[in-house]
Order: sequence, then structure tokens, then C-alpha cells
Amino acid sequence: MNARRKVIIDCDPGIDDTLALMLALKSPELEVVGITVVCGNVPVELGVQNVFRVLERYGRMDIPVYAGARAPWKRDYVSAQDTHGMDGLGEAGIPAAKQGECREGAAGFLVEALKREEKLSIIALGPLTNVADALKLEAAAFEKLDEFVCMGGSYKSHGNCSPVAEYNFWCDPDAADYAFAHLPVKIHMVGLDVTRKIVLSPNILEYMCQIAPGEGDFIRKITRFYFDFHWKQEKVIGCVINDPLAVAYFVNPMLAEGFESYTRVATEGIALGQSVVDAMNFCGESANSYILTDVDAEEFMRIFLKRIVNAQEPELSDTLKQIFVQE
Ligand code: RIB
Ligand code: CA
Repeated sequence: MNARRKVIIDCDPGIDDTLALMLALKSPELEVVGITVVCGNVPVELGVQNVFRVLERYGRMDIPVYAGARAPWKRDYVSAQDTHGMDGLGEAGIPAAKQGECREGAAGFLVEALKREEKLSIIALGPLTNVADALKLEAAAFEKLDEFVCMGGSYKSHGNCSPVAEYNFWCDPDAADYAFAHLPVKIHMVGLDVTRKIVLSPNILEYMCQIAPGEGDFIRKITRFYFDFHWKQEKVIGCVINDPLAVAYFVNPMLAEGFESYTRVATEGIALGQSVVDAMNFCGESANSYILTDVDAEEFMRIFLKRIVNAQEPELSDTLKQIFVQE
């Protein structure tokens, strides 16, 4: 097997962030060298506690956790606790971790890790405030950055915070735009166009509970609130799990297809937070992003189920055929 790829996960856990952390920790291709937390779905302090809940569950309290930005660069902070619950984990009453030492200074950690590690990548699952802070702190450190994958934005799909804006970029549009303007590598944008195709359905959840009761029950507990929100908000049965797709795509980029483009983020007005993808090259600028436009949702679910609940073939493919045919 090839050498494990070193990554830092910047996140705002958050229910789908939590599932993404679980997937990353169960992916042998990855070495998670650190987790940084940003204000987003929930305030940083709650996000940090949710990271510790996952790390303790997986026996990975060795991974350093850094708290980052408590507020967006300019906008007032608006959480997504209506979607993820006040605690960020579906108000499921998951016991707090008994241990966990949180360090301050996510931006400084990102810079130091980039300078220390030969080939380090970043998977960003929340607003890009920590990333932009680190870029401002020491842009030169990012010259060594291997790959940058972020869940955020939307190309042709409608927004989830406004007609055009996706939450991570809407929460802190100034930081998001700064990242698109200053990162020295292309941003692989895993936006709503593809994540909306990744639905954790009741059937898939039931399958998880049948084959791995412990993990399945944990996921059932933390996603109940998210299921209810999805039905109320978008009449979706189940829940869109955005962030795990960013992790799965980092592990296996063949999962999705897209195109290179110049992209910026609107920072004011009615389109605030919109990822403006210049697909027709009106601006004449070189590409700073790779925009995902389609995804093999069944293959994602195969990866997700194999790693999270140790699903085995041929049962897995047979079950997915049932599920994807029905759905
Ligand atoms: O818009 C969805 C994104 O915003 C996800 O990353 C979710 O966790 C929230 O951060
Ligand atoms: Ca997130």
C-alpha cells in the first residue's frame, strides 16, 4: 500500500463533520496529523467537545486538536444549530469525552504543520476562517501544501442559506473569497451540486444498525435531529451528508468528475456567499479551483459502509442494489 497521506481536517462538528471525521479515522490511506475547529455549525467550544467525542470513541486522543476562529472575518457569526442541534450533535445526549486537551491557535498550527511536513494536505469541512487566518499569518507556508479539498459552495445547485449561497461560504464569505484568491493550489470544491446526491437514507441507516449495532446506533442517535430538519426544510427523507464526501473524494478522486475554473466568492449583497464559478472564463483569469459536478453516489456509499461499519461483499453490493433501485 502506498504511504499514508498526511492531512489536517478543519471542521465545525456538526453532524456531517462528525461522520466525516469517523470516515477519515477509518481510512487507512490517511494519517490525520491534526484537527482544527472553526466557528460554524456550532461555536468553537462545542465543536471541540464533539471532536473529542469522536477521538475518544475511536481511541485516537493522540491526535492534536486546536481551537480556531470564534467569529467570521467581518460578518456577524450565525451558527447552524437549527440544523445540527444546540450541541452540534443532534441533541442526542452523547456523553462528553472524559479527556481531551484542546490547544489554542488553529491558524498557527496550520502554518507550523505546513512548514514541518513534506506533503501535507488540508480537508476543510467548515467556514474557511481558520484557513484564511493561516494564509494571512504566513502565506509562504502554503507553498508546500499538497492538496486542498473543501466542502463548500455550489455551482449550479441552489443554496442552502440563500437562493445561491451554501452555509460554509455564506457564514464567512470574506475568508472564503480570500482563500480562493490566495491559496497557491487549486481548491477542489465539493459543493452542493454533488453533496446533495449523498443521502443517508433510513434504509442505509437500518442496514448499518443491522450489521454493526454499536456504530449504527451512535449514527442513528446523532442523525435523528438532522433527518427531521431535512424533512422540514427540503422534504428529503434521510439526511444529506455533505462532509464525508469531501473525505471520500480526497481518498478516491475517481468518485467524482468536474472541471477547472476561476472561482471567487461574493462578499456582499443579495448573492453574499455565492461561489461565482467562471466556467466560461469571462474574467480571463487562470483556474484556481476544480469544481465537482457529478459523483458516483453508490460508490461513495460502498466506501462509507465498508469503512464505517465494515460492510462485506457480496452482501454490501446486493444490499446497495436493493437500496439504490428502490430509491
Ligand atoms: O452547507 C453544508 C456545510 O455547512 C457542511 O459542511 C455542514 O457541516 C456545514 O458546515
Ligand atoms: Ca461542516
